[in-house]
Amino acid sequence: MEFLFIELQKNDQPLYEQIYEQIRNKITDNELKPGDKLPSKRKLASFLEVSQTTIELAYAQLHAEGYIRSEARRGFFVEQIDELTPVSAPITIAPSLEQERPSYDYDFSPGTIDTSEFPFATWRKYAKEIIDASYQDLLQLGHPQGDVELRSEIAQYIAHSRGVHCTPEQIIIGSGTEQLMALLLRMLGNQSLFAIENPGYLQMHPVFEHHHHPIVPIDVDQDGMIVEQLIQSEATAAFVTPSHQFPTGAVLSASRKATLLNWAYARKERFIVEDDYDSEFRYSGRPIPALKSLDQHGKVIYMSTFSKAFMPSLRMAYMVLPPALYETFKYDVIQYAATVPRFDQQIVARFMKNGHFARHLNRMRTVYKRKMQTVIDTLSTLSPKLTFFGEHAGMHVMIQLEDDRTEEHLLSLAHKQNIRLIGISQYYVQRTEQRPTFLLGFGGIPNDQIENAIHTLWRSWDLSL
Ligand SMILES: Cc1ncc(COP(=O)(O)O)c(C=O)c1O
Repeated sequence: MEFLFIELQKNDQPLYEQIYEQIRNKITDNELKPGDKLPSKRKLASFLEVSQTTIELAYAQLHAEGYIRSEARRGFFVEQIDELTPVSAPITIAPSLEQERPSYDYDFSPGTIDTSEFPFATWRKYAKEIIDASYQDLLQLGHPQGDVELRSEIAQYIAHSRGVHCTPEQIIIGSGTEQLMALLLRMLGNQSLFAIENPGYLQMHPVFEHHHHPIVPIDVDQDGMIVEQLIQSEATAAFVTPSHQFPTGAVLSASRKATLLNWAYARKERFIVEDDYDSEFRYSGRPIPALKSLDQHGKVIYMSTFSKAFMPSLRMAYMVLPPALYETFKYDVIQYAATVPRFDQQIVARFMKNGHFARHLNRMRTVYKRKMQTVIDTLSTLSPKLTFFGEHAGMHVMIQLEDDRTEEHLLSLAHKQNIRLIGISQYYVQRTEQRPTFLLGFGGIPNDQIENAIHTLWRSWDLSL
């Protein structure tokens, strides 16, 4: 073969790569057959008006990948390539693996936050500051529990705002509450039977399941987890959201808190995991002190997250191990590298150190409080067949309807109107009460659209305004 037609483009792709790719495609498409002789390097170089080195590089690549062979003094020949699959063949991703992101007219799911007030400028400033050669050390692996600068800031923050006193050594930073829980369960081994709230934070259920930790559902009422039920159970550990029960919004009553702590104190193997996920956003009364702040005997493992206070995409949460547990597990903990990038940890540490975190929280508390008020005002004008609760904190309120239709049916009507809504049944292990009840999350809906969003939902249910 004297010539080979190859179309060269003037773009960023090096010429040798274009030549290599086109010859490879001719071979895999069977345009060039096994045994065909390729033009000599000199001839092809002069035909394509490129340097001989360019052809040499292309042939060397084809040779290295087994598409062609070289025979002494005879030249290059196409190899038998039936068994070869080109490395750069396009990989098709099964549709089920692709993230489906349906867009809704209104999204009432509880996990969305308000993004309009995010302090991008300050975030950018700190990010720019640390992405600099003077912070080369951040390219290295950090402490498995997270950078000490961030852990120190968190220790100070939870002492002031939640009454939780600990040293930075007791804190472990991880990429979310579920990841930290998984770490804790790995450390604990298979000995604990976990009591969970019913309804409760359902994202945690698979974590228990995957680590073969059986769970016992414990009912929840207007005073939080019914601790008397826990006492009757065989559970050795309890996972609770005492300051703002998820999803009902109940606050664990003071007497139940005392009973719960006494239950844990009574046996060496018992302990409590407190999930304090959104304590920053309480709109009336005094802040509810964390259960951990009342713990006299190191029985409460405290967890919290930046998912509500900052953003869920940050993937940053923290856990405080009581001193004795920390001593037991510290060697297990350091077997795993930290799961949060150090650059992000450093940005958050600076935010906290320089007072921006506190300012951001104050601003967001006002934003969410205003939104909650709009939700309450709108719901108050609707039919008396509606009751709502959990309006003193957080980014969602519960609504309950007196309606003969099922929760499932009402959900499907809302979805038909392109509204994303979640029913309480999803959060139950077992449910006896059947009245249709929904979580009305408003974090991601602009304040001036809330009324319309609720009215649209109402109309989707054919209820009069
Ligand atoms: C009850 C509860 N716990 C914890 C979290 C936070 O989980 P993560 O830190 O994995 O984002 C959430 C959601 O934001 C939640 O609703």
